[in-house]
Amino acid sequence: MNEPGTLTPLGRRDLASVFHPMAQIATLNEQGPLMIVRGEGIYVWDEDGKQYIDGLAGLWCTSLGYGNEELAQTAYEQIKKLSYGHLFADKSHDTAMQLAEKLKAVVPGGFSKVFFGLSGSDANDTQIKLMRYYNNAVGRPEKKKIIARNKAYHGVTFAAASATGLAPFHQGFDLPVESFLHTDCPHYYRFHEPGESEEDFTTRLVDNLERLILAENPDTVAAFIAEPIMGAGGVLVPPDSYFPKIQRVLKKYDVLFIDDEVITGFGRTGNPFAVQTFDLQPATISLAKSLTSAYLPLSAVMIPEFIYQAVAEVSKEWGIFGHGFTYSGHPVSAALGLKVLEIYERDGIFERAARLGEQFQAHLQRLADHPLVGEVRGKGLVGACELVMDKATGQAFDPDAAVGKYSLARMKDNGLISRAIGDTLALCPPLIVSADEVDEIFVRYTKGLNETLDWVTRQGLLAA
Ligand SMILES: Cc1ncc(COP(=O)(O)O)c(C=O)c1O
Repeated sequence: MNEPGTLTPLGRRDLASVFHPMAQIATLNEQGPLMIVRGEGIYVWDEDGKQYIDGLAGLWCTSLGYGNEELAQTAYEQIKKLSYGHLFADKSHDTAMQLAEKLKAVVPGGFSKVFFGLSGSDANDTQIKLMRYYNNAVGRPEKKKIIARNKAYHGVTFAAASATGLAPFHQGFDLPVESFLHTDCPHYYRFHEPGESEEDFTTRLVDNLERLILAENPDTVAAFIAEPIMGAGGVLVPPDSYFPKIQRVLKKYDVLFIDDEVITGFGRTGNPFAVQTFDLQPATISLAKSLTSAYLPLSAVMIPEFIYQAVAEVSKEWGIFGHGFTYSGHPVSAALGLKVLEIYERDGIFERAARLGEQFQAHLQRLADHPLVGEVRGKGLVGACELVMDKATGQAFDPDAAVGKYSLARMKDNGLISRAIGDTLALCPPLIVSADEVDEIFVRYTKGLNETLDWVTRQGLLAA
């Protein structure tokens, strides 16, 4: 964004016609958008020719960076071969088939089938509808409720937004709809009680989940949906013992675990999938974003045999499974997915990301000493610093001071695109980032933090 009253020519035209998603529209109308007109590797350029490192990989998605020739060629060839094909009823095409086979081979968990969509939101809507359908099919029509977590982000369609646990996605939309429940956010730094150890914090949260399931009646609770690392909530990494303990409770009450790996899938956390990073045993997995490295939209829901069999069995009585999109498994998206998976494997992208992830996390850890930084957090090639007014107590700045937004603008001036989630500044660079580029990201990020420190000091915003 620009300073008020400095709309660029393209910015002015843009505002005349584009309804911006996720925007604070009144502010946007004053300041205008940052018009990105070109991208190559980990870099993007604005309309004035200024270059930026894309430190957030677009929206946590452009893992192979911009302008990849091989992917351009793949899309071109697939468009010439078969530009459209669908998967409804008895139709199929070999590209979606091959991608489903490949996903079954690379995603751990012994999944049986892959359901394709176009976005993380629709993948999670598919998940939630599938949980209802499955429980109805096996004669448990009461088992419908979905438990998500406060600060979760699962997308914006009706069901996904209902699972999302962030106020802006509910306010004004009359969401969440009924049958969605929210439990605690596992962010120890912000939500532990005075004197509470990380272990005790985790135990309290898991006990709360168990109490919630019991209070609702386990026979009415279908599934628990969770992102292994909560991205849009602020890059929140749970304590080590959180998921093992949570999974024990879920198993005890026959509540299925939907693993939302829309951000964490495909090498982001230092392993191919976060199921490996956190030792997860989910019933189903949502994938999107890095599946095609965002060259075209595509999502996938990994489905186990027992759910597929239940749906197949009931189809004898109910007829068609009435869910699917015109573009489910679109051949050009699927061809890109196949090529992206081939590149990940051929070029050892996940192993490289794991190695560079160590360098990236070491840089973040060094920032723990910065006077503005309350907590650093992350795994692999995703991380963040949370800026606070009082480092000793963790007291946050007044949100009206908009410190995160100020810091984001300074990073932008220094040629780095980050993301401000409140006063948390997130980083999630393309997985193809080099060692030198990781260093450069932190030069620019730290410069932005130092300029923010000068500003908050001048404004008298820091604790005395
Ligand atoms: C964990 C998670 N799930 C779902 C979504 C929604 O994905 P989309 O924007 O493609 O609908 C996102 C988007 O950031 C996400 O981070």
